[in-house]
Amino acid sequence: DTQRDELVRRIKRLLIERNAVLVAHYYVDESLQRLADETGGCVSDSLEMARFGKEHPAATLVVAGVRFMGETAKILSPEKRVLMPTLEAECSLDLGCPADEFAKFRAQYPDHTVVVYSNTSVDVKAQADYVVTSSIAVPLVEHLRDQGKKVLWAPDKHLGDYIRRTTGADMVLWDGSCVVHDEFRSWALEDLRGRHPGAAVLVHPESPREVIHQADVVGSTSQLIAAVKDRPEQEFIVATDKGIFYKMQQAAPDKKLIEAPTGGHSATCTSCAHCPWMAMNDLVSLAETLEDTNEPAKNEIFVDETARQKALVATQRMLDFAA
Ligand code: 13P
Ligand code: SF4
Repeated sequence: DTQRDELVRRIKRLLIERNAVLVAHYYVDESLQRLADETGGCVSDSLEMARFGKEHPAATLVVAGVRFMGETAKILSPEKRVLMPTLEAECSLDLGCPADEFAKFRAQYPDHTVVVYSNTSVDVKAQADYVVTSSIAVPLVEHLRDQGKKVLWAPDKHLGDYIRRTTGADMVLWDGSCVVHDEFRSWALEDLRGRHPGAAVLVHPESPREVIHQADVVGSTSQLIAAVKDRPEQEFIVATDKGIFYKMQQAAPDKKLIEAPTGGHSATCTSCAHCPWMAMNDLVSLAETLEDTNEPAKNEIFVDETARQKALVATQRMLDFAA
């Protein structure tokens, strides 16, 4: 409609005026993913978002996603202004791993190499030897295992369990989970597979073990999209946030995509295969963020410089390993 078109035009103008580029995650609203594509920004998984933001020459990065993604951009590019449509977009993994409690946990395992998921605060990353995203967690831990290292992993217990089973590494795990992926139900998935025997099952590794057991492909959001494009099956059952369907369908327009079942058909469900924090990003909040010329801007990311420098070491190791 015309109001929406006008909003999109205004955002495009503001991005140019502010020398800004939009960096979006696959789980945010389709309107933002489209806008990022149309304006030379990127839509990707969390590893590629980090890399793109660091390498792009724009003075301002506008990160449409959740807070840790904005913070990662700032860790890697302190000289850039990093804005987000909202600073209230959290992540249950980040919230479930406070830095002070993590420090106590870490102190119990002084001889372990500390590997933390990117879905954490700057203060937790500052305590890590390595940061990883789901796309490189397994190869990185394999590498550490081959060096005889023991690994302390935080915060996602399902991803940690998956890494441990896949690599056979000696690992201790923090007890955290993602409110979205934790909702996928293995018994309901079994039932759905029975009704679609030719479908391949794609699963993000933040899902419970019994769901991962049924997967044909386990991977990051980018890896799951690539699987839809590259694999021969015509039908796919997808166990991750449904925001991903926009890019998946674009990548393979003729293939049939089916949502994996969640336990969220009850009144208590708050996630239902869509991250409530990712959903806070929209065109209106993006326009408001770009229009705000206050110093500092309302939705600007700032991080403590001492913590940033420590977090940078672990985050840069991730980029170097992935290169
Ligand atoms: P990816 O790194 O696979 O994009 O995952 C990020 C995330 O938050 C998944 O819930
Ligand atoms: Fe965090 Fe889960 Fe949302 Fe990803 S989907 S940002 S892991 S709460």
